[in-house]
Amino acid sequence: MFSKIELKLAYGLAISFLFVGALCYAAFPVKTPDEPVRLMFNVTAGKVLFDHKTHHADNGYGISCGDCHHTLEEDEYADAQSCSECHDPDEGDEETPKRADAFHQQCTGCHEGYGAGPLEKDCSACHVM
Ligand code: HEC
Ligand code: HEC
Ligand code: HEC
Ligand code: HEC
Repeated sequence: MFSKIELKLAYGLAISFLFVGALCYAAFPVKTPDEPVRLMFNVTAGKVLFDHKTHHADNGYGISCGDCHHTLEEDEYADAQSCSECHDPDEGDEETPKRADAFHQQCTGCHEGYGAGPLEKDCSACHVM
C-alpha cells in the first residue's frame, strides 16, 4: 500500500509533468507544413530531387515564393499550384513553354543569375539515373 504522503507526491508530480507538457506543446506546436519540403520529379532522363524548403527558407537560399510561383501576388502564396496547371507537358510556345522547358528555364536561369546551383549543361547535377 502507498502512504497518503506518497500518493500526494505522485499526484503532484503527475500534475507538474502535465503542466510542463502543455507548456512545451504550446511553445513548439507541431505544425504540418503547408508547402512541400522536398519534391521528387520522375522523368525518363533521370529523377530530379528538388529541395523546396531549402530554396525558400530564410536559413536556406531565402528565395521568395513569387520568384518561382510567378503568377501569384504576395497574399496568394498559400494557393500555389503545380506548374502543370498552366504549363502543358506536351505543348508550349516561346512565351508559355511546355512543362519541362518551363522548369529548365526557371531552375537554370536563376542559378545562372546567382552564379550558384546547377546550370543547363550540368544535366547530372539534377538528373540522377
Ligand atoms: C525555387 C523555386 C520555388 C520557391 C522559392 C518556392 N516554390 Fe513552391 N514549388 C516549386 C516547384 C518547382 C513546385 C512543384 C510544382 C509542380 O510539381 O508542378 C512547387 C510546389 C509547391 C506547392 C505544391 C503545389 C501542388 O499542388 O502541386 C505548394 C503549395 C508550394 N510550392 C508553395 C510554396 C510557398 C508557399 C512558397 C514560399 C514560402 C514556395 N512554394 C516557394 C518551386 C518553388
Ligand atoms: C496560373 C498559370 C501558371 C502557373 C501555375 C505557372 N505559370 Fe509559368 N507562365 C504562365 C504564363 C501565362 C506564361 C507566359 C508569360 C507570362 O505571362 O509570364 C508563363 C511563362 C513562364 C516561363 C517563361 C517566361 C519567363 O518568365 O521566363 C517560365 C520559365 C515559367 N512560366 C515557369 C513556370 C514554373 C516553373 C512554374 C511552377 C513553379 C510556373 N511557371 C507556373 C502561367 C503559369
Ligand atoms: C529563383 C532562384 C532559383 C530557382 C528558380 C531555383 N533555384 Fe536551385 N538554387 C538556387 C540557389 C541560390 C542555390 C544555392 C547554391 C549555393 O548557395 O550553393 C541553388 C542550388 C540548387 C542545387 C544545389 C544544392 C541543392 O540544394 O541541392 C540544386 C540541385 C538545385 N538548386 C536545383 C533546383 C531545381 C531542380 C530547380 C527548379 C525546380 C531550382 N533549383 C530552381 C536558386 C534557385
Ligand atoms: C536545374 C536542374 C536541371 C538541370 C541542370 C537539367 N534538368 Fe532536365 N529536368 C529538370 C526538371 C525539374 C524537369 C521536369 C520534371 C517534370 O516535368 O516533372 C526536367 C525534365 C527533363 C526531361 C523530360 C522532358 C520531357 O519532355 O518529359 C528531359 C529529357 C531532361 N530534363 C533532360 C535534361 C538534359 C539532357 C539536361 C542537360 C543538358 C538537363 N535535363 C538539365 C531539371 C534539370
